[in-house]
Amino acid sequence: MSYRMVDLIQKKRDGGKLKKSEIDWIIENYVTGLVPDYQMSAFAMAVYFQGMDTTEIADLTMAMVASGAQIDLSDIPGIKVDKHSTGGVGDKVSIILVPLVASFDVPVAKMSGRGLGHTGGTLDKLESIPGFKIEHTIADFKAQVRDKGLAIIGQSDDLVKADKLLYALRDVTATVDQIPLIASSIMSKKIASGSDAILLDVTVGNGAFMKSVEEARELARTMVDLGNAVGRKTVAVITDMNQPLGYAIGNHNEIAEAVEVLTGKSTKEFREYIAELAQLMLQLAGVEKSIEEIMAHFDNGLAYAKLLEMIEAQGGDASNLTAPLEVEYELELLADQQGFMEEMAAFGIGVVAMKLGAGRATKADSIDFQAGINLVTKVGDAVKPGDVIARLYSNKPITAELVEEFKAALVIGNNKKEYKEIIEVIR
Ligand code: URA
Repeated sequence: MSYRMVDLIQKKRDGGKLKKSEIDWIIENYVTGLVPDYQMSAFAMAVYFQGMDTTEIADLTMAMVASGAQIDLSDIPGIKVDKHSTGGVGDKVSIILVPLVASFDVPVAKMSGRGLGHTGGTLDKLESIPGFKIEHTIADFKAQVRDKGLAIIGQSDDLVKADKLLYALRDVTATVDQIPLIASSIMSKKIASGSDAILLDVTVGNGAFMKSVEEARELARTMVDLGNAVGRKTVAVITDMNQPLGYAIGNHNEIAEAVEVLTGKSTKEFREYIAELAQLMLQLAGVEKSIEEIMAHFDNGLAYAKLLEMIEAQGGDASNLTAPLEVEYELELLADQQGFMEEMAAFGIGVVAMKLGAGRATKADSIDFQAGINLVTKVGDAVKPGDVIARLYSNKPITAELVEEFKAALVIGNNKKEYKEIIEVIR
């Protein structure tokens, strides 16, 4: 079947519903270059305004899956579980959760991404470990999952070629934040990566793509239905990304915090939060464990041992994982009033971390693994003048302007706010 792209753009622009053959045609011809970027941009904008129904989203997702290689993990014994977060600030969850789940003999084969703008990326954090290799052939990736039970590597270039092209285009045409396009982008990559089950962490709040719980719920529901419809057991958690996750924002310091959690040293709340996510991943693999049984793997060394196994298998040197940050410039930010920390806006703090050198403003920027922020205070904590709120680390002078930017992300007031990371589970 052959179509004219202009007719399909017009059909969507006018609110029409696209057939599977039409969506297949668009994606196939976009990847081969027959449909140029300017027409695909117009199409993305038409989808942005007119949306897509469930069948169209599923067709788009599977057309994207078919645009590249697909990994077959079926020769690795056990139910393989994957995990994906829609992004955030201080989000080192994968680095803790993957070894924790693997320590219960549930294999985890994960492909992760890099950070951009105010968000961090798991790959960058892992690369702060000297020698750690995130590029693997598919054969090596599978061999590591088979032998060690876990691997976290970079997204293979061969997978979901359509998403690579389309995501770059959406990034520059103001068409990123739209549910059918986000759902198909994320789920096509998860489906092509070959795991049997998927835990989705849909973040919500000022540091996330989704700003309201309603939007996050809709994205989560769309992705859960998509995954289940194609035979991948999928569950989503909606998690709060109004303040950074945990205390460290950066790269090396986030690895250090991940090790703290894995060795049972971080706050009980943070360990419980990770244990709740692990419980959901284990359930997806048919393994029922209580939160106490899961937390025991922090204390008995089994979860940390798995992280060390993964680091060794991927060529990393684990001798300095918890060393303090080493930078030229350090600054302590002090509270100047009494009260409770009511807000620590994840977006603003993420931007400051990026400007300190911990992230990249454009894809071409390089990262300073030692730069970042260690929070001392979190939402709900009492503060008084002179208390340390955060420590900033950089190899560039830390300007007064940047300090003001950090302060603008904070609200100290009279209300002691309760804060719970997991808002809802969508099955
Ligand atoms: N992450 C993705 O992989 N794709 C999107 O569209 C948004 C976030």
